[in-house]
Amino acid sequence: MPIPGPPPSPSGDNLDDVAAAGGLHAYQLALHREHGDVAAFRLPGSRLVSVADPVLLEQVARVNERPDELFEFLAPLFESGNLQVMPAEEHVPWRRTVLSAVAGRRSHEAHFGSFARLATDLADRWAAAPGPIALQQELSELSLRMICQYALGMEMNTGDLAQRVVASFEEVLSEYLGASYGMPYEKGRAEKALAFLRGAVDHVLAERRVGERPDLITLMAEAGESPARIRDSVLVMMLAAHHTTGVAISWTLHLLTRHPEVTDRLRAELAGVLGERRVPAFSDLARLPELEATLKEAMRLYPPGPYGARETTEDLVLGGYELPAGTTVFIPIWAVHLNPRVWPDPERFDPGRFTPERSAGRPRLAHIPFGFGPRSCEGARLAMMEAQLVLATLLRRFTFTPVDGHPVVPIERFVLWAEHDIKMTVTPT
Ligand code: HEM
Repeated sequence: MPIPGPPPSPSGDNLDDVAAAGGLHAYQLALHREHGDVAAFRLPGSRLVSVADPVLLEQVARVNERPDELFEFLAPLFESGNLQVMPAEEHVPWRRTVLSAVAGRRSHEAHFGSFARLATDLADRWAAAPGPIALQQELSELSLRMICQYALGMEMNTGDLAQRVVASFEEVLSEYLGASYGMPYEKGRAEKALAFLRGAVDHVLAERRVGERPDLITLMAEAGESPARIRDSVLVMMLAAHHTTGVAISWTLHLLTRHPEVTDRLRAELAGVLGERRVPAFSDLARLPELEATLKEAMRLYPPGPYGARETTEDLVLGGYELPAGTTVFIPIWAVHLNPRVWPDPERFDPGRFTPERSAGRPRLAHIPFGFGPRSCEGARLAMMEAQLVLATLLRRFTFTPVDGHPVVPIERFVLWAEHDIKMTVTPT
């Protein structure tokens, strides 16, 4: 049985359709609206089978290979080979080392105080100079500072370094991604930004202070990773950790300004648990279920990483369709999160979906902002903790008002970014 999907253009693929949709973030929504939960499309050199049904996705839950072609645009970032598509035998020990550096409740708790200080510094700065704030830029910088301090043993407070790193990643990703959709590409610009990022990695390596707990760099060296692989891993951690967490918090605040009733409930929960305190303690987070549900619901509606992919390693029958080994299975995270067969009234912002009662019986892979399986996000728990802390701190300190007439349009920058940022005025409460 052939898999439904759009006809290819005369060039033999659907690249024009993807480019017309603005990227794979929006294209996946149209694809599944028209063709159902399993649909095939083509990009130059590859055929992709996109699966928006969380039960069918279970069949690729243990696959530990990603397809080269889809992530080819990231290859120039790396010296030691594209980390996104490392073969399983290299990936397994690498993942173990990364997890030993960034996962673990005790180490999250140990760093909580310094994260809270970084969040408070940002809030103090906003309070001292109220005016329109570009949330994505500011919150991505904050997340970058957090990961640099936590996993890389370095305070990124030299001049405007954090700001320039965030801007350079944006430049590199927009140029490389645009080029992969056949958009005009200004080679010099991306290369200059990448050279700056490599310099920033060298700076992190030179400036880091080795603390009591071994950081990612020490652990990688002990695990016998090459210097080039260590530099690549630092770059990938900076990349993977900053704009994802930054946009998760930004989209949440965006949704909250449109839903004052949810904001009121959150403020009441925070007041009940924190009392007079403005910043939560680590142990408070477990007592803030509304906050956790709100963040999860925001990541359902605006998943920071809007898609993933796997390359199958054996023949499969999925939803009645035969997929030979080597098939690219596209994971349309956004379309899974907006699938009306899984999420009733999917566009509606409703954190109540995440109460235990309403979650009961929902397929395990219905909500996958951090992906799943052996390639899932190593930073998932850390990111949740950071985002909850920052949201709690900001909601205790400010009310947020969107800047009048400023459009908020989701675009693909590898993450689900808002074009022209999300601009808000903050008023101290
Ligand atoms: C809200 C914040 C974040 C979101 C939504 C997010 C989402 C994702 C997603 C969707 C993937 C791909 C998963 C897959 O293919 O199944 C991923 C991979 C990854 N993420 Fe995150 N991420 C976030 C924060 C972080 C943080 C804070 C770190 C670092 C501590 C991090 C490190 C990574 C790494 C290293 C990978 C590559 C995984 C691999 O190939 O083994 N992420 N992330």
